[in-house]
Amino acid sequence: MARVAVVTGGSRGIGAAIAKALQAAGCEVAATYGGNDEAAAAFTAETGIKTYKWSVGDYEACTAGIAQIEADLGPIDILVNNAGITRDAPFHKMTPQQWHDVIDTNLTGVFNMTHNVWGGMRERKFGRIVTISSINGQKGQFAQANYAASKAGDIGFTKSLAQEGARAGITVNVVAPGYIATDMVMAVPEKVRDSIISQIPVGRLGEAEEIARCVAFLTSDDAGFVTGSTITANGGQYFT
Ligand code: CAA
Repeated sequence: MARVAVVTGGSRGIGAAIAKALQAAGCEVAATYGGNDEAAAAFTAETGIKTYKWSVGDYEACTAGIAQIEADLGPIDILVNNAGITRDAPFHKMTPQQWHDVIDTNLTGVFNMTHNVWGGMRERKFGRIVTISSINGQKGQFAQANYAASKAGDIGFTKSLAQEGARAGITVNVVAPGYIATDMVMAVPEKVRDSIISQIPVGRLGEAEEIARCVAFLTSDDAGFVTGSTITANGGQYFT
């Protein structure tokens, strides 16, 4: 039977590429999104993948949304925590709101989603959880104290859950992308972006599909011995 996969932030950017890759791998896929109805409708029209709207920062909304997906598609086997936002500011200008917005979505959102699928995966003795971190959670980044903290947090979260899930057939891993050609990176001022590209040894931004292929591997039945790991895909910009 087809595996059921949920990709948060799955209607655009890296998430959309992941959703398509998992669909191509034979999964039944659901994509969640936070706000952009137009992009979600276009994504469903293009792919046939159903989209569901809620904020991953809201625990009760995650509980209800996951119940709806399970009613529509069946028990969830694969969760990809991809939803993420930036609120960049040098620390002396960063507001508590900018801190909380990023932590609530990028880190608490990962807790909220994972906590709501964990019990079912334990009962069924199978699960694949992949969280999309970032190069900036590994190396830090000027103006991203909030984002880097959230993305580093994803890695500690994953290493802990990998230990808890191992005996229950649940693998928990991270993919840490470098700078990928998505709306998020295109929003960085052009001068800053050009300087970032000059620091990437392969000489270009990554493609969303290059991240999606890492996720497709980690979520496959074949990857059962890989858990607690971080696949770093950043064009050689930073070695961990
Ligand atoms: N290192 C050192 N200094 C830096 C710097 C850096 N990387 N970036 C900016 N600065 C300096 C500037 O030169 C400037 O210095 P001066 O005051 O001496 O001129 C100062 O910091 C910036 O001050 P501003 O008051 O102009 O800053 P601002 O409030 O307008 O903020 C910014 C500008 C938010 C920092 C903007 O430059 C920016 O967005 N930078 C990019 C941050 C970044 O890389 N974000 C990654 C987004 S992509 C992503 O997150 C995806 C992923 O996972 C990889």
